[in-house]
Amino acid sequence: MDLLDTQVYDLIGEDGFRRLVAAFYQRVPGDEILGPMYPQHDLAGAEERLRGFLIQRFGGPDRYSQRRGHPRLRMRHAPFKITQAGRDRWIELMEAALVEAQLPPEAHPPLRQFFHDAATFMINHAPPASP
Ligand code: HEM
Repeated sequence: MDLLDTQVYDLIGEDGFRRLVAAFYQRVPGDEILGPMYPQHDLAGAEERLRGFLIQRFGGPDRYSQRRGHPRLRMRHAPFKITQAGRDRWIELMEAALVEAQLPPEAHPPLRQFFHDAATFMINHAPPASP
């Protein structure tokens, strides 16, 4: 039986999400697509926001919404031009982070499914077609 989304937090805990999100953000500043999009002066804050959101989304405490309100993720991403290429890179970095964080394998399918669907939903910009 596949793990339900709400059971992921019980399985990997605060520490699992900490390792996953840290491994993701370690890769962000050096990335040629994502690096320039994220706030250089507040990467630690960005890391905390994504970690809090994921913990809440996967069955843990709702600290994210207590601090930030309703997630409304697509609206919060509107200031950034998110293309298919940006979406693909985000997923690539998160896949590498999943490996590095050494989470129990049962946690992978629900996390992966969510990342793929949510990242696609975040696309809000198509680059001009080449001539
Ligand atoms: C699974 C897909 C994604 C999830 C769950 C996610 C989640 C989040 C969350 C929770 C925040 C903080 C929002 C806030 O409270 O202000 C955030 C910010 C941000 N996201 Fe995403 N995101 C996703 C995909 C993407 C993609 C594909 C890109 C770019 C290609 C992107 C770029 C950014 C940037 C630049 C920020 C601002 C950093 C900050 O200051 O928090 N995100 N994202």
